[in-house]
Amino acid sequence: MSFKRNIIITGGAGFIGSHVVRLFVNKYPEYRIINLDKLTYAGNLANLRDIENEENYIFVKGDICDYEAMQALFREYKVDGIIHLAAESHVDRSIKDPFTFAQTNVMGTLALLQAAKVYWDSLPEKYEGKRFYHISTDEVYGTLAFDGTFFTEDTKYDPHSPYSASKAGSDHFVRAFQDTYGLPALVTNCSNNYGPYQFPEKLIPLFINNIRQGKPLPVYGKGENVRDWLYVVDHARAIDVIFHAGKTGDTYNIGGFNEWKNIDLIKVIIETVDRLLGNPVGTSDHLITYVTDRLGHDLRYAIDSNKLKNELGWEPSLQFEEGIEKTVQWYLENPEWMEHVISGEYQQYYDSMYN
Ligand code: NAD
Ligand code: DAU
Repeated sequence: MSFKRNIIITGGAGFIGSHVVRLFVNKYPEYRIINLDKLTYAGNLANLRDIENEENYIFVKGDICDYEAMQALFREYKVDGIIHLAAESHVDRSIKDPFTFAQTNVMGTLALLQAAKVYWDSLPEKYEGKRFYHISTDEVYGTLAFDGTFFTEDTKYDPHSPYSASKAGSDHFVRAFQDTYGLPALVTNCSNNYGPYQFPEKLIPLFINNIRQGKPLPVYGKGENVRDWLYVVDHARAIDVIFHAGKTGDTYNIGGFNEWKNIDLIKVIIETVDRLLGNPVGTSDHLITYVTDRLGHDLRYAIDSNKLKNELGWEPSLQFEEGIEKTVQWYLENPEWMEHVISGEYQQYYDSMYN
């Protein structure tokens, strides 16, 4: 079978990647989607059961840091586009083990860039019709005060955690390949995602699961930090629009203008879980437990995504109230997914962090 395009999606077994893979496989039967994932603790093929038998989908287990394997993959599948999400993504882990973050996020991205460059350089048409799309985060911009300002595409990079420093490093390499070799690259910086299939080390799924089990909810510091939350399917929709219509060499911020102070968000989660479980109002309030703050904890993130709206017409499709309701409902209706991921290696990590 011949396909119009051959696209690698890295990290497709992870949280956001699985939503991007699902959207592309279903929406573009004329594209072959190659999901490249190492299946670390965060990669879970159960996230993709509904599309795993589609004819335009292939899963390849591999490490983005393995340069030879990445070269072979580009050649074997005649890859003309890559959407790069694979990364170590959890800030708390980066504080404990920064080396893994530098290795995966910086060296892995560099291996992919070089593999793409070498393969595309070998073709008669070179970079024509090719695209290297790198998924980054708003955390590279650092932190904002409570002053109503936003991160724009022109905000200077100022990462604080080993995670955001490693993402910033990878972004710089992508732009260096664009500027030095003319590699057709794009970078987007997105705010906090929430929704189904998120690994329960991140705030929202961790807290939903803890409430379900009557376990403490560890609120870092005073719970006053602010994050800007976007439903994951809306991020996947933005990635689709930008992959197809974004300007090569450009950067787009993605966000939902939806800022929440952690403690206020936590109260919404508690209220929603209790209501959907049929518990009386206030049942789980006592689980809130203030704990030592995260080291270097960024105070506030807020994304200005007006460029994306004005140039490419993307806007979030879901209001937060609807998104959080759908999300809580999904986790409560899929306890077996939760049990599966909270086992083995993850359980040991969980114990070392919280017990
Ligand atoms: P995740 O941790 O859920 O998934 C990461 C995936 O990458 C996993 O499937 C893992 O197996 C895979 N992976 C890790 N190391 C690999 C390697 N060496 N080779 C191949 N695969 C490897 O992450 P996520 O939350 O879905 O984030 C995806 C991307 O989006 C990341 O680049 C992250 O920085 C970025 N991002 C995330 C958010 C968010 O809120 N989660 C927001 C903005 C940007
Ligand atoms: O902003 C985008 C980033 O969002 C992504 O680049 C990261 O990959 C993603 O993990 C996320 O980073 P955060 O650190 O903002 O997400 P996390 O869910 O870990 O934490 C959200 C907020 O909640 C943060 O202020 C820390 C706080 N928190 C988190 C946990 C896990 C708690 O108070 N208690 C917790 O147990």
